[in-house]
Order: sequence, then C-alpha cells, then structure tokens
Amino acid sequence: MDRSKSIGLLNKSVADELQAVHQYMFFHFHLTDQGYGPLAMLFKQTAIEEMLHVEKLAERILFLKGEVEMVPAGPVAKIKEPTDMLKKAMAMEEGSQLDYNKAAIECGANADSVTKQIFEQLTADEERHYDNYEKQLEKIEKFGPSYLALQSFSTVTEPGAAKGGAV
Ligand SMILES: [Fe+2]
Ligand SMILES: [Fe+2]
Repeated sequence: MDRSKSIGLLNKSVADELQAVHQYMFFHFHLTDQGYGPLAMLFKQTAIEEMLHVEKLAERILFLKGEVEMVPAGPVAKIKEPTDMLKKAMAMEEGSQLDYNKAAIECGANADSVTKQIFEQLTADEERHYDNYEKQLEKIEKFGPSYLALQSFSTVTEPGAAKGGAV
C-alpha cells in the first residue's frame, strides 16, 4: 500500500467536506433569517453529518501517519434563494458521490481496503443527503412557493426533530 496516495485522497475529501460544512451552514443562517425553519434545520443537520465525515477522514489520515489539512476547497457561494440553495447542494452531493466512488476504486487498487470502506460509507451518506434535498425540491415544484411559506409555520426547531419530520 502507498500510504501517501491514500492520505492525498483523504485530505482532498477533508477539503470538500469542510466546504460543505461552510456552505450548508451559510444556507442555514439565511433560511433561518428568512423564516424557513424546517429547511434551515435540514441544512444544519446535514452540515453536522459532513463534520462527522471530516472526523472520520481525519482519524484515518492520522492512523496512516499523515497530517490533516484543514482547508476548505473554496469560497462559499452566496446563494439566498431556497430552490437555488437546494440545486447547489444537490450538485455538491452528486460531485462527492462521484469523487468518493472513484477514491474507493483507487484505494482498492492500492490495497488499502479500510480507506476504501470509509469512502464507500461516505458515498452512501452523500446519496441519502442528495435524496433529502431532492425531495424538498420536488415538493416545492409540486406545491409551489407556498410549500416553503407553510413550512415557516412549523414548530420544528431542533436537529433531532427534523430527522423524522419534514426531512
Ligand atoms: Fe460528506
Ligand atoms: Fe453530503
């Protein structure tokens, strides 16, 4: 196994996950400000899961005797419109799935089955995130902008509550 190859793939993913944490929290702040509580909570909940992905990747980097590069992949996109936020988030999740699938294959070829498994687990999570966002976008397209307006009357405010509810 070429450790540096795995460490490189893991650090690139740390950058992408940090990027997602920043982007989703930016969406969370603005949706809260606009009064869209449940959608705001979905973004916060997902940001927390992306942070746990950073942790999982970092633990593996340190196990392989590498260093964790805590640098986000790029600046936050200043999107304020809820449907545009969902489209951006879906594109990010789709990109992550593609990258992690490729990374898993590369780790397999590099005889690093543990890192391969981490990338496979992350791919499954990103698929679920994509699905959550897609469902919200479909509801907005089906019911119109009033769907989000009605959501603002919901009392869902806690991350745990969003899990079994509108998400
Ligand atoms: Fe992630
Ligand atoms: Fe994700």
